[in-house]
Amino acid sequence: MPDHNSANSYCLGIESTADDFGAAIVSFEGKVLSNANDTYMPKEGGIHPREAARHHAEVAEKVLAEALDKAEIKPRDISIVAFSQGPGLGPCLRTGATAARALASYLDVPLVGVNHCVGHIEIGKLATGARDPVTLYVSGGNTIVSAFEAGRYRIFGETLDIAMGNCLDVFARAVGLRQRRGAPFGAVVEELARKGKKFVSLPYTVKGMDLSFSGLLTAAVQAFRSKKGSLEDVCFSLQEVAFSMLTEVTERALAHTEKPEVLLTGGVAANKKLQSMLEVIADEHGARFCVVPLRLAADNGAMIAWTGILAYKSGMSVPVEKSFVNVKWRLEDVYAPWVEGQ
Ligand code: ATP
Ligand code: FE2
Repeated sequence: MPDHNSANSYCLGIESTADDFGAAIVSFEGKVLSNANDTYMPKEGGIHPREAARHHAEVAEKVLAEALDKAEIKPRDISIVAFSQGPGLGPCLRTGATAARALASYLDVPLVGVNHCVGHIEIGKLATGARDPVTLYVSGGNTIVSAFEAGRYRIFGETLDIAMGNCLDVFARAVGLRQRRGAPFGAVVEELARKGKKFVSLPYTVKGMDLSFSGLLTAAVQAFRSKKGSLEDVCFSLQEVAFSMLTEVTERALAHTEKPEVLLTGGVAANKKLQSMLEVIADEHGARFCVVPLRLAADNGAMIAWTGILAYKSGMSVPVEKSFVNVKWRLEDVYAPWVEGQ
């Protein structure tokens, strides 16, 4: 039986929802001892789920060994195994789940299924000390404004079509940008946007508390092709419009809930412009602005391990035979009893 608050009890967390295969060791008191990762890089276009899954299967052993090595622990020191159970791409999720089930069975330790979106929120809270934030979670596949209320992370607003990160990635590919030194497309757009001078008018679409980015994406690509501005100007304008939409919805959630913090998490959280816009509204409402550190912003095993620990400490685990993945597992469907005691 692992000791619930011990630095000597460890969780192995496995992340495999999309293009990353991650494995991490986190202690029960919340120290990230290792956070290994290998990213699938499609030759062209977006992620092909089955190819990404094949990549994950190929690198799993190497990434797991790296996580154990860096943490300087042996497999027998692992107290529980956590894995991302959804939402995500089916073949990718199943590959990570298979590795997690095999390890938990072999080591004879509890298995904990973690919701990937909750993972992004909990690692942000752990890293910044936020206790009860309004969270803007923005990544390649998700765009969600949420806050905790009555046992669950409630969704206050979300995208009605594509996610913020996906909008930036598809735009970047459509205008012929290249990823340099492995930098994500969002970071490439951010760099160009800094040099933009002219604002090009683009559609701003907030419907109630929800957002839509697909029309904005099409208009931004068209603005570039019809030379309404330079590439830098269009990147600048795309960021201005998209991030204003995100900021508006986050501010409304903050005004409504009067939470003490605003937390920015997910891969797009790395964006300095988005950070600065959210900081302004947090200040105006007397809330502390918190942003997940870069090393924990994109998908990673540590967020799964830490959330697994929180869930396990409140009595949650899943028998191997019932540990099916759930590709559409919504944030608000996750019962999160540990949050009240945090
Ligand atoms: P999921 O949606 O399942 O959480 P994901 O793998 O798509 O997972 P993350 O790894 O959290 O998401 O984030 C990747 C996204 O973050 C990509 O769309 C990428 O372009 C974007 N991104 C990374 N750095 C920046 C940046 N500096 N500015 C804007 N976007 C960024
Ligand atoms: Fe993610």
